[in-house]
Amino acid sequence: MERINKPDLSVARKRSKSEVDTINYHKNQSIKNLGVGKKYLIQTHGCQANEADTEVIQGLLEEQGFVKTKIIEEADLVLINTCAIRENAENKVFGELGRLKSFKKINPNMIIVVSGCMPQEEEVVERIMKKYKHVDLIFGTHNINRFIEYLDYVMKERKPLIEVYSKEGDIVEDLPQLRENRFKAWVNIMFGCDEFCTYCIVPYTRGKERSRRKEYIIKEVENLIKRGYKEITLLGQNVNSYGLDFTDEVYQFSDLLEDLGKLPIERIRFTTSHPKDFNDKVIDCIAKYPNIMPYIHLPVQSGSDSVLKKMNRKYTKAQYLDLVDRIYAKVPNVSLTTDIIVGFPTETKEDFEETLDLVKKAKFEGAYTFIYSPRKGTPAAKYENDVTPEEAKRRLYILNDLVNEGYLRGNKRFEGKTVKVLVEGYSKTNKDVLSGYTENNKLVNFNGPDSLIGKIVEVKVVKSKTWSLDGEIVKKEAE
Ligand code: 5AD
Ligand code: SF4
Repeated sequence: MERINKPDLSVARKRSKSEVDTINYHKNQSIKNLGVGKKYLIQTHGCQANEADTEVIQGLLEEQGFVKTKIIEEADLVLINTCAIRENAENKVFGELGRLKSFKKINPNMIIVVSGCMPQEEEVVERIMKKYKHVDLIFGTHNINRFIEYLDYVMKERKPLIEVYSKEGDIVEDLPQLRENRFKAWVNIMFGCDEFCTYCIVPYTRGKERSRRKEYIIKEVENLIKRGYKEITLLGQNVNSYGLDFTDEVYQFSDLLEDLGKLPIERIRFTTSHPKDFNDKVIDCIAKYPNIMPYIHLPVQSGSDSVLKKMNRKYTKAQYLDLVDRIYAKVPNVSLTTDIIVGFPTETKEDFEETLDLVKKAKFEGAYTFIYSPRKGTPAAKYENDVTPEEAKRRLYILNDLVNEGYLRGNKRFEGKTVKVLVEGYSKTNKDVLSGYTENNKLVNFNGPDSLIGKIVEVKVVKSKTWSLDGEIVKKEAE
C-alpha cells in the first residue's frame, strides 16, 4: 500500500495555546548506510529558512553515506526543497520536476524527493500526484527529522510516499547539519509565523510561531565559534517576536542579542525583522555591541496606510518612519533594506505614490520588490484583484528605478573609506579577484592572495557601483 498523508490548510491555519516541547533528535539505529556508494543532489529554492533546512537534509543524508554531487546525470537521489511564496517560485519547481522526468527515464532507480513549503499546500500535492508520477517522496516542513525513515521506506518498498503534517510538531534539537559555508552560518532562533499578513502563505506552510530555547542557541553559537566561524545570521520569520511564546520565562530578542553580543563571534546579523515588534531595546543592542552589524532588513511592504491595513501589517507609514528615525538616531552608520509589494488589491496610484514617498524618506540602501501574487488559502486571495498586470509592472519598474538609486547612494557613501570585509572567496565574475561583504553588507571586490579567504581584512574602497564596490587591500588582517 502507498503511504499517503496529505496536507490540510484548515488545520494549518489553527493556532493552539499550548507551548511546544523541545525534543532531542535520536538517529534510528536500525537504518544504516542507506546511501553507501550513492550520490545526492539538492536544489534549494526560496528563503534562508529553506537554506538552513537543506543543511539539515544534507547532514541526514551524509550520515547515511550519501555523497554530494552537482552533476544530475550521476545523482541517485534528487531533492527539490521548494518555496511557495509567489506563483513564479512554484512554477520554477514544476518546470524542474518536468525536466527530471527525462533523467528518471534514463536512470529509473533515481529517487526524486520534493520537500519544503510547496508540499504544505493541498493543491500542489494533488497536482504532483496527478501529473508528476515520477516523484517518489513528498514531505513538508514539519517532519524533516523523519526524512531518513521515509527514504528507507521508499528505497526498500519501491513505493511512493507522501507524508505532510499540517500541524507543526515539536522543536527538534541536535539534528545533524552540513553547513554550506565555512565562515558564515545560519542559526534558527525560531520557527513559524503567527502574523498572518493577508497576502502571505508562510503562516500556513511553516506553522505556529515557536522559539528555540536560549540554551540551545547559545550552545550552537559557541560550537560555531570553536569551529572558526566568523559570522552568524539569526533566522526567524519575525525575529523581533522571539521569546514571546515562552510561558515560563521572560526572555526576548533583545535579551538574546545581549547574550550573543558578549560572545567572541565577530559578526552577528539577523533576519527578518517585523517593524511592529522592533523595539528600542533592540536598537540599543545594535548600538552597544560592535559585533552586531549595522545592517537591518526591515520589510515595509507598502507606504500607504490603507494598503498596510488591508495587509494586516499593524503599523502605519508614520509609525514605520518614526522607527526608522529612531534607528538612524542611535545607529547613524546603519544600512537599511526592505521588501515591497506593488499591485496589492485596491492599491491606487495615490497609494503607490505613498510608497515612493516612504522609500525616499527611509533612505533604503536596497530592496526586494515584488508584484503581488495571490496565494490560495490566504485572506487576500479572496479580495478583488483590481490592479491590472500591466499597471503592476509599471509600478514595479518605477519603484525599481528609485530603489536602484538607493543601492548606488548606499555604496557611494563608502568611497574613499576603509571597510572591514569578511573574505568569502573568488568573485563570481572574475576568478582572479577576491570578494566578500562589509559590516553594512556591501559586496566588495579586490585583489589579494587566497590566504585571506575566511578572514576579516581592511579594504579601502576606491570605486562604487550600483551593485558592488571595488577596493584595495589595506592590511593583511584587521584583527
Ligand atoms: N505576493 C508577492 N510578494 C509576497 N511576499 C510574501 N507573500 C507575497 C505574495 N503573495 C513578499 C513579501 C515578503 C517577502 C519575503 O516576499 O514582501 O516580505
Ligand atoms: Fe509572511 Fe507577514 Fe509572517 Fe513575514 S511576517 S512571514 S510576510 S505572514
